[in-house]
Amino acid sequence: MKFLDTWTRATVASTRDLTPTIRLFELQPAGRLPEWTPGAHVRVRVTIDGRPAVRCYSLIDDGSGDARLRIAVKLSENGLGGSRAMWALQSGESIEISEPDNHFELGLAAPSYTLVAGGVGITPLVSMARFLVRSGRPLRFHYSVRSREEAAFAELLRAWLGEAFHLCVENESGRLDFARIVEPIPAEGELYFCGPIGMLEAARKAWEAGGRPASLLRYESFASSGHYANQAFTAVLPRFGRELRVPAHQTLLSALEEAGIEVLADCRRGECGLCAIDILACDAPVDHRDVFLSEEQKAANRKLCACVSRPAGGRIEIDTAYRGPVTA
Ligand code: FES
Repeated sequence: MKFLDTWTRATVASTRDLTPTIRLFELQPAGRLPEWTPGAHVRVRVTIDGRPAVRCYSLIDDGSGDARLRIAVKLSENGLGGSRAMWALQSGESIEISEPDNHFELGLAAPSYTLVAGGVGITPLVSMARFLVRSGRPLRFHYSVRSREEAAFAELLRAWLGEAFHLCVENESGRLDFARIVEPIPAEGELYFCGPIGMLEAARKAWEAGGRPASLLRYESFASSGHYANQAFTAVLPRFGRELRVPAHQTLLSALEEAGIEVLADCRRGECGLCAIDILACDAPVDHRDVFLSEEQKAANRKLCACVSRPAGGRIEIDTAYRGPVTA
């Protein structure tokens, strides 16, 4: 079951490779779009192996510029296929996009802001940095990449932020030290994070260890960044007497929808929890990739968010029918 989006056509006005694996797309919508705020995203309709799918991309701009939308897409050869479909688009092609929406809002009352990006998690934070710099708010920015050539937008951010911008290149100096990032943040300061799930877990641990209120850590993560590589698995649904083979490049949610099994879903990014379904049994580790369930709930393995999470192979027995509260 899908929640309503308002869709519009847009033309791919131009594309430009920012790094060997990150491509910038400039989209010209057919009509005027509602205004958006830093951290906003659009959904894009793509076709993957002949099947319709929707992908979500953060807007690079803070909504104060021209009417064009800019998104950046990292090519993932082993992903679910969305980035390959995006990279196949040529300038002049027409696509369908949703109106901008924002689940990663920037608060405006903090005494200071710390932004931390991992890899292509840079995209929503560029718009936030632009807004914060323009409005003269105190800001520090930490950007972690595996290698220097992957550092899209680094020069732009350095030009805006000077000494307040810190680039961490993992294959030169190791990983970000979140304890050191959190320690100087003033008591009411806010930290905004976007990056892979492993980095998010490190950020949350450091934040908690620093005695910081959970409400001041705001984050978004990638649906594709699990602890295991995508593998095919079998989903067994005793309630329907069905067995589905879910290939490595398909999500459990999309396999269920394709089989005509209705599941509530909205964000499709592991954030809202609407698609959380019951696990009855599983003979492989469950790769929880959402940011909705707590660590305890993930450890209990009684629910999984079907839009992003999946077992690492094997068989999983599930029940999509019970819609009660999620408890550990
Ligand atoms: S649809 Fe929002 S968590 Fe899956």
